[in-house]
Amino acid sequence: MPMALSDLLLLGQGKDLASERGVSCTGELPHPSEPGLIERARVARAALGERALVLGHHYQRDEVIAFADITGDSFKLAQAAAVATQAEYIIFCGVHFMAESADILTSSAQKVILPDLAAGCSMADMATASQVDECWKVLQEFGVASHTIPVTYMNSSAAIKSFTGENGGTVCTSSNAQRAMAWAFEQGEKVLFLPDQHLGRNTAVLSLGLSREDCVLWNPWKPQGGLTREEIINAKVILWRGHCSVHGRFTVDSVNEVRSRIPNVQVLVHPECQYEVVSSADVVGSTEMIIKTIEAAPSGSSWAIGTELNLVQRLAKTHTDKQIVFLDKDVCYCSTMNRIDLPHLVWVMESLLANHLVNQIRVDDKTAIYSKLALERMLALP
Ligand code: 13P
Ligand code: SF4
Repeated sequence: MPMALSDLLLLGQGKDLASERGVSCTGELPHPSEPGLIERARVARAALGERALVLGHHYQRDEVIAFADITGDSFKLAQAAAVATQAEYIIFCGVHFMAESADILTSSAQKVILPDLAAGCSMADMATASQVDECWKVLQEFGVASHTIPVTYMNSSAAIKSFTGENGGTVCTSSNAQRAMAWAFEQGEKVLFLPDQHLGRNTAVLSLGLSREDCVLWNPWKPQGGLTREEIINAKVILWRGHCSVHGRFTVDSVNEVRSRIPNVQVLVHPECQYEVVSSADVVGSTEMIIKTIEAAPSGSSWAIGTELNLVQRLAKTHTDKQIVFLDKDVCYCSTMNRIDLPHLVWVMESLLANHLVNQIRVDDKTAIYSKLALERMLALP
């Protein structure tokens, strides 16, 4: 199939609202080096008061985290949005799918704002609604859809969450994937896990004790997912072929290299890392769990952390009694998380104060019904 020009759109450029790539902001942003920028942010934040709630994902820049009322992993921030009934504006400093989820979980009177519309997630874009529909049709044709439970990672579009809710499944995050998958196996015999193959495999094999052979990989770019009928019928878990471009970079070589360089180092990684990396690590957990592990670690201990660099740098700065290094030798920020900076935050706050609603993220009512069901199933997981 020839590649369309839209496939080549760069992040934040051009219009591609159907994907996580979004568009660049049209507003007049303050210059990043403006001397009074921090003061402008303070003034705008104070003036908005309780009308606004600023949520900040742990991968955000320090300059943004400094203005967050609540910081957290994607689960904690979804919970925070769900109970924030008083705030008129939820300013979500994170990525698009997180803001969409917050919109689904808040009332129609509340407005969710993403400071830069181009803050998407490449993993979420790896499963489109039409690709998932095609996959489901194959499962129906082979007679397995009726006992297959979809489990979608939070890092997915509202449309995928809606598909999941409509077909009896749940959303999960990296902090509850084990419970979500265990719950799914109580509802059915087979799990379709979207879109992160690594989180799905790590959960199925390392947390639930299934074998690697119990899992098959569905390639959305191949007919029938690149699988035979028997493979689909026999699989316990069908993993979608998606991954995180940030966490996918860590390798077993990085683990071996750091172990040989730093005596007694403990390797702490996010479950979006590859199976081999997670298997060779000492501790695995969500961003919130990574922070808690470091907080509880004894003074003088050494840690190599395999997750996004903003978080690792912040941990190293705030825990100077511990040796904290980045697991990879190369710099590895999440480029889309990083798009949200102080100029964007100041711009949205000042715009709201001028009664100009910018960058609102809205999920249409039809999509919101079943995606809310899937999110609520997650929030109610035992
Ligand atoms: P958490 O659920 O740990 O916040 O992770 C979200 C994410 O996007 C990691 O890449
Ligand atoms: Fe998406 Fe990976 Fe960035 Fe998380 S770190 S938002 S999964 S691209």
